[in-house]
Amino acid sequence: MTAAARGRERPMSGNRKRLHIKTYGCQMNVYDSERMRDVLAPLGYEASETPEGADLVILNTCHIREKAAEKVYSELGRLRPLKAARQAEGGGMTIAVAGCVAQAEGAEIMARAPVVDLVVGPQSYHQLPELIARAHRARGEALQTEFEPEAKFDRLTAERAVDGPAAFLTVQEGCDKFCTFCVVPYTRGAEWSRPVDQIAAEARMLAAKGVKEITLLGQNVNAYSGEAPAGREADGRWGLAQLLRHLSLIGGIERLRYTTSHPRDMGDDLIAAHGDLEKLMPYLHLPLQAGSDRVLRAMNRRHTFAEYAELIARIREARPDIALSSDFIVGFPGETGADFEATMRAAREIGYASAYSFKYSRRPGTPGAAMPGQVPEDVKSERLAALQALLDDQQRAFNDSCVGRTLPVLFERPGKRAGQLGGRSPYLQAVHCDAPAALTGRIATVRVIAASKNALAGELCDRERGAA
Ligand code: 5AD
Ligand code: SF4
Repeated sequence: MTAAARGRERPMSGNRKRLHIKTYGCQMNVYDSERMRDVLAPLGYEASETPEGADLVILNTCHIREKAAEKVYSELGRLRPLKAARQAEGGGMTIAVAGCVAQAEGAEIMARAPVVDLVVGPQSYHQLPELIARAHRARGEALQTEFEPEAKFDRLTAERAVDGPAAFLTVQEGCDKFCTFCVVPYTRGAEWSRPVDQIAAEARMLAAKGVKEITLLGQNVNAYSGEAPAGREADGRWGLAQLLRHLSLIGGIERLRYTTSHPRDMGDDLIAAHGDLEKLMPYLHLPLQAGSDRVLRAMNRRHTFAEYAELIARIREARPDIALSSDFIVGFPGETGADFEATMRAAREIGYASAYSFKYSRRPGTPGAAMPGQVPEDVKSERLAALQALLDDQQRAFNDSCVGRTLPVLFERPGKRAGQLGGRSPYLQAVHCDAPAALTGRIATVRVIAASKNALAGELCDRERGAA
């Protein structure tokens, strides 16, 4: 690139500033951090790996499990001397708390941690530049957690920096399910879906930048219900299956995924898409949370285990090789030993390719926090260890079952060792393989030669080796 071309890419202000973002929690937050970086780039902010010497530090927080807020406060404690050092040098460090902790506890953070200049909820990132300017003038006046999702997506620049051939794309936010353990309906607000045309434009832009795989994100993504594209207004709103079919027509996009889903929103059309939409990858994260109907009811999950199992059977009928994933919570209030055994049985019956499991943690303001029968910590730990051992075995067994198969792998990045590339199988397994760097960003056929709990090792098939 010539110096002149670089110059044209310079931020409008020409005034370079250092931005450090620390991201906690889920993929949605990783995505949001990228959005914040994009929104701040035109103001001259360039990403910095460390907070030392940064002009702006953003802690993009997660509120989903206990201790999240405490982690933020201790990080703020570490930032305090860095901010003081910057001020002593005659510079300044603006500290922002973003994300779900900000949404839930904004006023409290401002009161408890004066080192914080501004607090910004997930719906207001497009207003960051304005908020930062206001914070510079009067610290404390910049509390901004109003819900305005439409404006957020309208105004966030359509131009995104992409990092490799696999990208996330938020299509839906918020949740109306109100599971009794969960803060999301309170922190992210009501379900809201982006219009199809807006999503398709972003997907086309990603494809033009070399993205091959898009994972559609939403807190409750299969509840997606977005405005139909121009010319199709008569359709009313489109669901996730229609959106996936629409995006699959975009040239360059080879793979589609979506996460996270609720069993109650797994419609027939979405199940059918798993059967006939080639670009939709055979992987589904469909949280069960618990195996006991009594606990499922107390969690307000709105389905029984039998209904979940029947749903899985229909999904497997449509796509027999689908890799299933789940979230589990152990030690929900009132969970007995027998309830927990029902969770173990359920996991055995379904058979997961991977899964996440957590000890229940009380989230203030959620119904679960006030329920009787809170389970002692040591019991939770015991149950978690037993469940995780089972899920680890299942993951290992699934990975072992792939040895000897040939799988298409999207190579995303250099591997751990020289001469290796790392990528993902259709089932979202990490795969590493000796391969030329020229295959980065491409899908190649790989024979799986070994498996561990967390990854597959493969070798390029002859045809691919010749082609590279
Ligand atoms: N305690 C433990 N786990 C929780 N999760 C959400 N809230 C809680 C909580 N209060 C888990 C659920 C959810 C995942 C993202 O985090 O399993 O699916
Ligand atoms: Fe939380 Fe998911 Fe339940 Fe919504 S469906 S309340 S995001 S756990």
